[in-house]
Amino acid sequence: MTKKIDRRSWLRSTALVTSSFALTPGLKAFATYDAAAPAPNFKAWDWERSVAARPDITKLKARLLANENPYGPSDKVRLAIMEAAGMGNRYGHTSAAKLIDMIAEKEGVTPEHIMLGPGSTDMLEKTAITHFVHGGNIVSADPAYMSLIKTAMAFKAEWKSVPLTKEWAHDLPAMEAAVDKNTKLVYVCNPNNPTGSLTETKALWDFCDRVADKAPVFVDEAYLEFLDKPEASSMVGLVKKGKNVIVARTFSKIHAMAGLRVGYIVSTPETLEKISSMVRGNMGMSITSLKGAMASMEDTTFQANSQKWTKETREYVCDELGKLGFDYVPSHTSFVLFPIAMEGAPFLEKMFDKGVGVRAFEIFDKQYCRVSMGKMKEMELFVDTLKQVLA
Ligand SMILES: Cc1ncc(COP(=O)(O)O)c(C=O)c1O
Repeated sequence: MTKKIDRRSWLRSTALVTSSFALTPGLKAFATYDAAAPAPNFKAWDWERSVAARPDITKLKARLLANENPYGPSDKVRLAIMEAAGMGNRYGHTSAAKLIDMIAEKEGVTPEHIMLGPGSTDMLEKTAITHFVHGGNIVSADPAYMSLIKTAMAFKAEWKSVPLTKEWAHDLPAMEAAVDKNTKLVYVCNPNNPTGSLTETKALWDFCDRVADKAPVFVDEAYLEFLDKPEASSMVGLVKKGKNVIVARTFSKIHAMAGLRVGYIVSTPETLEKISSMVRGNMGMSITSLKGAMASMEDTTFQANSQKWTKETREYVCDELGKLGFDYVPSHTSFVLFPIAMEGAPFLEKMFDKGVGVRAFEIFDKQYCRVSMGKMKEMELFVDTLKQVLA
């Protein structure tokens, strides 16, 4: 299945977009990217103006709509930021270099393999800009996280979308078959957003290993740290082997720093040089966020708690959904997707009116709710409200 969008509609629609809401599954969604949807049968529901911009959004009792981490940032991050505020008159080059060193050490690569951005969105977009400046096609799953794909399409890239399998995994053979001589990038999101599903590590590794010889493979690992053994499922090892693979990570999820904007990519020095020949990496970073990220990396207790508490709330939600008869998608992330028997727009309005903010998508003609994990009290409120709304 291949879908295209013309540049004018894309540019018109991006005016509505903010990156924290930049998620759209392939076919239809009720999300910020509504008007920017590439699919002709995309059903728009104007999230930004109708819900996210409602004056009472700050009054939500449970804010479960953007996969934010409710537990942070950690106290150590807050302290580091306060201390760094007084250095706000200086560029953050030295701090950026220090954070890059720390990340390189953690990932087992040299600093030349790391590029920083204000959130991984910046890296997704810069990769798209630099790889699609002369067009080409992009291969990805459907539904997928659309940020990079949409920027690619703004540069007239053709999107070759491959539906996920029935088990919600990437259909790797079909994706490999879709790669051709015009493919400028393959995008994989693992675990995937909006489904929360995981593609088997060995199969993905072999896929990336083979396909990277034909086209660069971008692996978005925004939710990797919610796995029990994140390193075991990462594709960074392929970068170490010198493969043409780009791995993206973010401080927005496990580190609970979404509003502080820190992300990075790990790739070969050649690929990072290609990107920095056109756009500047590292430059968009604020000194406060850099210092905060360094403090967060050292706060392994906070990261472990984030993971543990998210798992607990996810298990609670899945249990409750199961009891209520919802056929939820087994999740490896900080959110859960499940089908609902109601149109997305009225569902969201009803939930919102009761103080619970969630997301709704229409994927292959079926309605779904995506709920992010908040604190346990928020999840209990979510379950109670869901029972009332869908009763
Ligand atoms: C899969 C995925 N990638 C990237 C991002 C962007 O995150 P950030 O720009 O906050 O690092 C998100 C945000 O929700 C995401 O879900």
